Amino acid sequence: MATSPDTLTARPGRPLSGVVTAPGDKSISHRALILGAMATGVTEIEGLLEGDDVAATARAVEAFGADVRRLAPGRWRVTGRGGFRQPAGMIDCGNAGTGVRLLMGAAAGHSITATFDGDASLRKRPMKRVTAPLAEMGARFEWAAEEDRLPLTLTGGGLSGLTFTQTVASAQVKSAILLAGLNAAGRTVVAEPEKSRDHTERMLAAFGAHVQVNDQGAGWRITLEGGQTLTATDVSVPGDPSSAAFPLAAGLIVPGAEVTVRNVMLNPLRTGLFETWLEMGADLMVSNRRAAGGEEVGDLTARHSALTGVVVPPDRAASMIDEYPILAATAAFARGETVMRGIGEMRVKESDRIALMAAGLQACGVRVVEEPEGFTVTGGRVAGGATVATHGDHRIAMSHLILGLAAERAVTVDEPEMIATSFPGFVQMMRELGADVG
Ligand code: S3P
Repeated sequence: MATSPDTLTARPGRPLSGVVTAPGDKSISHRALILGAMATGVTEIEGLLEGDDVAATARAVEAFGADVRRLAPGRWRVTGRGGFRQPAGMIDCGNAGTGVRLLMGAAAGHSITATFDGDASLRKRPMKRVTAPLAEMGARFEWAAEEDRLPLTLTGGGLSGLTFTQTVASAQVKSAILLAGLNAAGRTVVAEPEKSRDHTERMLAAFGAHVQVNDQGAGWRITLEGGQTLTATDVSVPGDPSSAAFPLAAGLIVPGAEVTVRNVMLNPLRTGLFETWLEMGADLMVSNRRAAGGEEVGDLTARHSALTGVVVPPDRAASMIDEYPILAATAAFARGETVMRGIGEMRVKESDRIALMAAGLQACGVRVVEEPEGFTVTGGRVAGGATVATHGDHRIAMSHLILGLAAERAVTVDEPEMIATSFPGFVQMMRELGADVG
């Protein structure tokens, strides 16, 4: 039996070039499975991300009564029964915050009882941001160990619509409320002072639901009437910009590199990192812009660039919240300071990403000043030569491995198996481009 290594090391010095294809988007993959399971009929999904997080959601929707089959690599069929059924056992969402929060929303609209749990990282993440509005709608929750933390037991059904104003721009919270609202009496409204990714709204419309989105400048207001049924439809999953960011970052920081990543989703609520890199002077080009699966996609080419530090506008945070770790890694190679503020949400992701990026970069000889809701990276010499504790966070691991490709000495990360939660082909892709990772 193959065993996974305890650590993974990225070594500098190799040239980097090639053309690769982005893996399927994680956010859209979770949603395709969940909406497919809530709908009536057969949904075929093309390009599904076959990472551990999405696999946990596939098992969960099966437990809720859908028939789920893998037809070929990336090609899955979900047969929905028009709603969720009582599951026989506990719903284990693994490492996936999106999985558990959206599934709780979907389950809350049905007269069932379900216990949700996750791995050690997911058990540390706040759940009240979702359970509080769902409880206002009429769902009931029991905390097994500690309030606000998994495991918890949800009893759904008999919901009423809710008007909710978000305090943090969270697509997970918005999506959970909208999915519950589908099976609630009356109207559900979510007001977002700042826009968060809109994949749920787009996909609900593709599944035949009437969702009204009123653009209000910086934010928007989403309205949905309860008692709507979803009709199965095929979903083509575009490439994940949050994963494409890693090979593209290597293209920017490895001397002489040129990396193209094909099929990257360009939804403006996901492209804040690319915008920021362009402001830093990145040689980053988009070609072959086209529509695919209800989203705009394109091929991105990154060439080694002389980067300059910037102040990232805090109102860009929602469109790149998962990308600050890799931005910080690239900022280590830029001239001057890169200031990242208004990103307190980073502390409640798969790990405290501000603390871990600060510690990892500092161990690699980079100057970082940590603040409660942000951090500043000063670029310059990147010594590397460290072993970084990732606390099981896939993006902390990948960010430091990319850094190691351009540092003076190799960089090692622990718990590399967690990379498979979002990007199972990461190591192979980086090797295809010529990187020394192993
Ligand atoms: C996601 C939303 C974001 C993001 C996460 C995926 C989604 O979380 O960090 O990786 O698919 O809706 P928040 O909604 O909590 O900001």
